[in-house]
Amino acid sequence: MMVIVVLLATQCVSHAGTASRMMVVSTVLRRAAGNVADVTVDMHGNIVCVAYTDNTIQRLVPNGTLELVAGQSGDLGDTNGVGGAAKFNNPWGITSNTVNNIAFVSDSGNNAIRAINLTSTLVTTLVGPTTAQPFGIVYLRGVLYAAGPRS
Ligand SMILES: *[C@@H]1O[C@H](CO)[C@@H](O)[C@H](O)[C@H]1NC(C)=O
Ligand SMILES: *[C@@H]1O[C@H](CO)[C@@H](O)[C@H](O)[C@H]1NC(C)=O
Repeated sequence: MMVIVVLLATQCVSHAGTASRMMVVSTVLRRAAGNVADVTVDMHGNIVCVAYTDNTIQRLVPNGTLELVAGQSGDLGDTNGVGGAAKFNNPWGITSNTVNNIAFVSDSGNNAIRAINLTSTLVTTLVGPTTAQPFGIVYLRGVLYAAGPRS
């Protein structure tokens, strides 16, 4: 049986036709400010999410605390730096390399892909700014895939 983990930001919704394969395991991310747009896990299994309109990356740790990984709440920009010193502009998608504990963020408002060392929380710019606006992003076995609208 395939288990689909659903992390709902604000509400429970029904998925007609797929309910038998769907297991809602958590709604904890509803506490994250700023519209959770995407989610991944770090090497420890902590849930890491992107708060799109809050311009932050947040992490749910095992005791239930939602802590800031990087970004300044409500303040947009393209600054690189450690944790709260870094800024994002409408970060949308997130994926991670759980071996090296690195997250990749499609920073849609900056037309860039940012990398976050989830151990040190150092944010760097991996790609960009480009002319393409990235949204969906996935990392698999050394390859980073990103998608966005034609510009
Ligand atoms: C939860 O865990 C985090 C990370 O270990 C820690 O910083 C925080 O103080 C803990 N919070 C509580 C309420 O225990
Ligand atoms: C991430 O940061 C840690 C702590 O500073 C460091 O040991 C590690 O090498 C960094 N990872 C990468 C992939 O640079």
